[in-house]
Amino acid sequence: MNSNVGSPFFTDFDINNELDWQMSRAEKYCIINLLQFLKPDVAIEIGTFKGGSLQVINEFSNHIYSIDISEAPRKFLQVGFNKVQFRVGQSHLIIDGIFKEIEDKNQKLEFILVDGDHSKIGVKRDLESILAYPHKNKVTILLHDSFNPQCRAGIKSVNYSNYPNVSYVELDYITGSFWHNKSYREMWGGFAMIVIDPNMKGEALNLSSQEHLFRRAYLSSIHLIKDPFHFLVPFKQKIFKKLGLRQKTDIYTDF
Ligand SMILES: C[S@@+](CC[C@H](N)C(=O)[O-])C[C@H]1O[C@@H](n2cnc3c(N)ncnc32)[C@H](O)[C@@H]1O
Repeated sequence: MNSNVGSPFFTDFDINNELDWQMSRAEKYCIINLLQFLKPDVAIEIGTFKGGSLQVINEFSNHIYSIDISEAPRKFLQVGFNKVQFRVGQSHLIIDGIFKEIEDKNQKLEFILVDGDHSKIGVKRDLESILAYPHKNKVTILLHDSFNPQCRAGIKSVNYSNYPNVSYVELDYITGSFWHNKSYREMWGGFAMIVIDPNMKGEALNLSSQEHLFRRAYLSSIHLIKDPFHFLVPFKQKIFKKLGLRQKTDIYTDF
């Protein structure tokens, strides 16, 4: 998603346009307003990239952990973001340790942005490792790209009834985009929201308010043709690497 879709943009928040921010106008408005309201004691971001979303999290949170599988974001951003603890690794393997660290410090985790591995299994792993932890207070989670069929399937594949402290699940908190810029017939963007509330009693509200829009777009999308062959992606990555060819996703790890 191109970062310049925000202009003109109306906010008191001083956006640094030099930080590539892979979110749409609606998503930017949402996350700025949400964090301005929540003012989290601690926030975690999965998927740092070039610090676009991190700049907002950094502004409104007391303590921040930002996780990326690549070393590049830490090297690129540490100087400008001295309040942020950059962690390098696979998010689903290291996030539990971060939860424990926050608890040991008597801090309060209140916000998580999930924007890392966008495959169905990747999203599922991230979500399950977040939900399995016995959180002591309310945590608001935003998941980016819930309009992308792979991400959406990952979010949907979690059995929320296994986690009694989940009070709210909405796949289309912010609706995504179809055929955005040059992404030929692709579906990206959107925010799902999940709320963990340890005082939760009763049944969670489980919504996908734009499911009809999602299905209509899916029928005209390239995902219909591409996604059945998704299992070939690891082979393609290996072949490209062997041949020394650049892939679309290299921009995330190599900058
Ligand atoms: C779409 S970008 C994040 C964009 C950023 N949040 C923003 O709005 O500007 C996704 C990032 O997730 C990272 N990533 C991919 N898989 C990951 C994983 N398993 N664990 C941690 N980070 C991962 C990538 O290296 C990439 O930097």
